[in-house]
Amino acid sequence: MSFRIIGTGSALPERIVTNDELSTFLDTSDEWIRTRTGIRERRVISTESLDDLAVAASQRALEAAGIEASDLDLIVCSTTTSDHIMPGQGCAVAAQIGATCPAFDLSAACAGFVFALDVADGWFARGRAKRVLIIAAEEMSRLIDWEDRATCVLFGDGAAACVVEAAEDGLLAMDLATSPDMRALAVPGIGGNSPFKEGERPASVLAMEGQRVFKFGVTTICSAVKRLCMEAGIEVADIDHFVFHQANERILSAAVSRLGLDDAKVGRTLETCGNISSACIPLTLDNLARSGALASGDLVAIVGFGAGLDTGSCLLRWA
Ligand SMILES: CC(C)(COP(=O)(O)OP(=O)(O)OC[C@H]1O[C@@H](n2cnc3c(N)ncnc32)[C@H](O)[C@@H]1OP(=O)(O)O)[C@@H](O)C(=O)NCCC(=O)NCCS
Repeated sequence: MSFRIIGTGSALPERIVTNDELSTFLDTSDEWIRTRTGIRERRVISTESLDDLAVAASQRALEAAGIEASDLDLIVCSTTTSDHIMPGQGCAVAAQIGATCPAFDLSAACAGFVFALDVADGWFARGRAKRVLIIAAEEMSRLIDWEDRATCVLFGDGAAACVVEAAEDGLLAMDLATSPDMRALAVPGIGGNSPFKEGERPASVLAMEGQRVFKFGVTTICSAVKRLCMEAGIEVADIDHFVFHQANERILSAAVSRLGLDDAKVGRTLETCGNISSACIPLTLDNLARSGALASGDLVAIVGFGAGLDTGSCLLRWA
């Protein structure tokens, strides 16, 4: 069994926060952020909720796929920043779009979208589902420390979704991996106020070893693309589109140069959206699909990486 993506959608917050705006309350500059990361601005939730964005992205994906919520057999939502600890973000979307299928959340940080595709693939293989809605919804602005210039300039908020349908072909290769590391990129914990809990309560803000994650990003993209090609028996040059996690332009360009890729084949949303964790990849796919850049039969290589340190990669033939 295999699958194909039959519809994509996305939704971003209205509020645009430029690098110049950040420099009004942080010791940073547009020049530093652009040259070190490639990010010019990001969208940040102000008046809307993450539920609103996840629902809007899902409705757009359903519309693009030409199906109703009642046609869905499963909803998987990748998020580390749900509006609700319970029930999950996927349940909140199900309630608002009128779906009655099982719905749950999955936490694999920036690699979460590919992990969710792999879960859907398993449901297809077991004959449990024909159509799955995969959502990636992230409100990174609630996790980051807005006084830490080394991390807060990198992230943004948003949601993207796709409808995936069981098919005879479409998936050429899939690989998930974890190199366990609890420090490189982490949000240590939820404090709570239990009177019985002893010891220090970890801060609920994102901490990162920037250079360690940077190196991991570059080596991971390169090794994942090579592995996908080996598994599918194709050459890197045969791939029409590369959709990598949008963490830093310098990570993307280092991978492009090491792999000898045609830069025009690499999708990007980083400059205007920053790093939206697991929503980056489906957002980039949605932009490519809506701009008409993805033709039927095109080969698309996807690599997500991040906290875990998790990696999820797959090679798809576009429907
Ligand atoms: C975070 C990152 C941009 C930092 O770039 P870098 O070139 O490694 O910079 P460094 O951390 O070495 O910091 C260099 C200097 O810039 C400063 N700096 C950090 N953030 C800054 C900012 N926003 N504005 C101005 N200066 C900043 C540092 O304090 C440091 O100053 P110092 O030399 O006086 O100590 C880079 O490491 C990175 O992108 N890493 C990957 C992060 C990532 O992608 N995370 C998510 C993955 S899912």
